Amino acid sequence: MRVVFTLNGRVVEVDVEPSEILLDTLRLKLGVKSVKRGCERGECGACTVLVNDAPVVSCLLLTVQINGSSVTTVEGLQSDSLFMELASEFGKNFAVQCGYCSPAMILTSYAFIKKVLENSVKPSREDIVRAIEGNLCRCGTYPRVVRSIEKVLERRAKAAPQI
Ligand code: FES
Ligand code: FES
Repeated sequence: MRVVFTLNGRVVEVDVEPSEILLDTLRLKLGVKSVKRGCERGECGACTVLVNDAPVVSCLLLTVQINGSSVTTVEGLQSDSLFMELASEFGKNFAVQCGYCSPAMILTSYAFIKKVLENSVKPSREDIVRAIEGNLCRCGTYPRVVRSIEKVLERRAKAAPQI
């Protein structure tokens, strides 16, 4: 079956089997290696991508299901200022250790921050912890990830005091 979708701002067409998962299409056919293979059961979050700006695990999604959608991975956000600010905080706060979970963790964090900023809400620490709970990190970087998200939100709140 032919599937057409937008990948990191570029329209791609790819022939897939009806049972093919998006994780395989991205890694094996489209060369997107930032999307990691972990449990393949929807439990670890390592394969997270953004579909129409929402984080989803690509191991539980058939590629045919994303026909006409927009898929974003970290490769597509390298000139996005919010993403780069967040990535910089991950670095400063040592939120990247072995790095295996990091592309997915940053994508989930980025989607959360974007939603917070769009809705002008002030999340609690518990809200942030809940937002990233679907992304497992065997290096235990959770407090550092939370701190990175908080740092970005603090900076944005200073720039826009109503948030
Ligand atoms: S590989 Fe998809 S959730 Fe673990
Ligand atoms: S940084 Fe190693 S798994 Fe998260």
